[in-house]
Amino acid sequence: MPLSLRFVVPLALALAAIAYAVVPLVDRLTFQWFVRDLDTRGALIAKTAQEPLAELVSEPRGAKQKVLRYFERIIQDQRIYALGYCDRSGRIKYATAAFPAGIHCGTFSEAAEERNWVLQLKDGPLHVSANPIATADGKEFGELVIVHDMSFVQRRSADTKKYVLYLFAAIATVVALITVVIAEISWRGWVAGLKALLAGETLLRSPIGWQAAARELRPIARDLQGLVLDLESERRSRDESQTSWGPEALRRILRQDLKGDEVLIVSNREPYIHVRRKDNVIEMQRPASGLVTALEPIVRATSGTWIAHGTGSADRETVDKHDHVMVPPERPAYRIRRVWLSRDEEQGYYYGFANEGLWPLCHIAHTRPIFRTQDWEHYRTVNQRFADIVADEARTEDPIILVQDYHFALLPRMVRERLPHATIITFWHIPWPNPEAFGILPWREEVLEGLLGSSILGFHTQFHCNNFFDTVDRFLEARVDRETFTISYGGNPTEVRRYPISIEWPPSALALQAPVEECRRKVRAQLGVGPELKLGIGVDRLDYTKGILERFLSIERLLELEPRWVGQFTFIQVAAPSRSTIDEYQNLDAKVRALAARINERFGRPGYQPIALRIEHHDAAQVYELYRAADLCYVSSLHDGMNLVAKEFVAARDDEQGVLILSQFTGAARELSESLIVNPYDTEQSAAAMHMALIMSPDEQRPRMRSMRNLVQEFNVYRWAGRMLLDAARMRHRRRVLSRARAARRKAGAG
Ligand code: G6P
Repeated sequence: MPLSLRFVVPLALALAAIAYAVVPLVDRLTFQWFVRDLDTRGALIAKTAQEPLAELVSEPRGAKQKVLRYFERIIQDQRIYALGYCDRSGRIKYATAAFPAGIHCGTFSEAAEERNWVLQLKDGPLHVSANPIATADGKEFGELVIVHDMSFVQRRSADTKKYVLYLFAAIATVVALITVVIAEISWRGWVAGLKALLAGETLLRSPIGWQAAARELRPIARDLQGLVLDLESERRSRDESQTSWGPEALRRILRQDLKGDEVLIVSNREPYIHVRRKDNVIEMQRPASGLVTALEPIVRATSGTWIAHGTGSADRETVDKHDHVMVPPERPAYRIRRVWLSRDEEQGYYYGFANEGLWPLCHIAHTRPIFRTQDWEHYRTVNQRFADIVADEARTEDPIILVQDYHFALLPRMVRERLPHATIITFWHIPWPNPEAFGILPWREEVLEGLLGSSILGFHTQFHCNNFFDTVDRFLEARVDRETFTISYGGNPTEVRRYPISIEWPPSALALQAPVEECRRKVRAQLGVGPELKLGIGVDRLDYTKGILERFLSIERLLELEPRWVGQFTFIQVAAPSRSTIDEYQNLDAKVRALAARINERFGRPGYQPIALRIEHHDAAQVYELYRAADLCYVSSLHDGMNLVAKEFVAARDDEQGVLILSQFTGAARELSESLIVNPYDTEQSAAAMHMALIMSPDEQRPRMRSMRNLVQEFNVYRWAGRMLLDAARMRHRRRVLSRARAARRKAGAG
């Protein structure tokens, strides 16, 4: 139905209903009004006629003729229908010809209503007015009955009805016209306002043209916006909790929620590395990284592109002329775009600014960050190179770009400049420090501005998100909304969210593992110790943030305090060499070796060492075997975004045994609350926790381990990636609704 009819039809119906009720009322009122008029008229005529009539009536002769003649003269008046005269006995003595037979005399009553009445005859109503008449000296001698013809009342009433109807029709037309005009104007405003509102645009940003209409919406705007957000978050949590999280769930999100949109991943490390072995054969290596496990199903499902630094010795030989290589080799599903860096660039960007600057800056582990201008220049150049490659590789104008970690703090804004419609999700895998700590960075504003080019910025914990809000609040002129977790900077909104990373479930490395008892035997046999020996395990990159020295010191303290463990407890420390050209890492390597050697010297004996230090790369199968063989796992990070070793240990223990000792400074400590949580700087406390773990009964270990396993199973790495993708889908959906609303507004404006 056209908009105008939507208003006019109900309005016309309402007016017709009013007219239907009003016309009879008007009719009745006019009739009563005329009756009252005739009552007065009758009294007047009677008054005027009483004296002449008194004389005529008292004529001794011919009174009848004289009276009737007098009456004939009076009824010349068109409205008087008939006249009659009643004598004092109440009998009609004289009456004009038309005097109706049924009319009796009055009662000589004083009450006006008893002297005036309406007589309904078949030809129409007559008004009868019976008026006492008196002589000049006030003596009543009879009654004058005046009969008025009321047909003129009927005629007038019909006319009035007609005029009332005309009046209503005129009012209806005018009101309808005004209503249509007003309705059309305000309807457009409302629709535009609601569209914008539902599309998430704030009313304050609305164009002047419909701001007036939008003003009316303001009181309900917040409620509606809240409702939309509630529905969204309800949908999100429903989507999340109803999904069993695995690679298929990610593929479903990509298919259903993202409609197969293009996905690009940017990380420093590549998911596959080609290495030339000593025997000259090219080997494909796969870094045992949780990140690759989580992100690979996404690029596979979308045949996407993974852009990374080509570091393998045979990487250049294995790419095509566009620097692409299809992976995985057995069933190519997506491509890696390798980016080449000169030695200086790698030194400045990766070793320098990223790992000697940002890494210690963000991890409060009391290692001083080093900021060199030259490193910063390289960092900026490399970020720009990656950003340009992202833009070149993108096949659509609004791809989803997943940016990984602190190597690319400047890239989100650089990509945003090239691809303004891209959905850029940046995940910061390491902690974010408080503003005081971050404030020492000479290029702090540039780093923050770079990150705020992202659509979504993710951290592992709410604590890190809050630190980021505080930092932006302190150093940038940005709008920080902690209620919606959004920062608006330079017109670009960034949602800052918590996405705790996890591991795949079930871990693929577990599938090929022997039963726990066998792992225990095997590992003890390798160490050359008996089956009764208790075993602890630590698995880390050789990094000063991991608290390996503190860990060894607490092992030493344990052996001091509880000498019974000497010869009965060995701690295997796997330390993968990492960033070994950096001085701090070389120093750490030396310190770790020296401390282990000192403790082993102090408490070791032939065939027994309290610390088995293995500074070498272990593959996932080897690590899982150690996890399964151990009685305890100690994660003593001095500061860690999440720490996946803790989760891997839990995932490895399908026998529901083993105790996890976990530093309170890891993101994982916020989730794995059934572990023994310690301050790794507190040597006594950590030693006590190790003792407690070693004597803990299997019955106490089981419920703790079961509960942690349930959590890791439910909150696995697919959920981590899936939640980000769902948020991206929601954001893209909103943006599409918004741009449709804008287009509609433009169209309405043009029309
Ligand atoms: C941390 C970082 C990752 C990094 C990994 C290994 O977990 O968050 O981005 O890839 O360490 O470090 P590397 O320097 O060897 O890549």
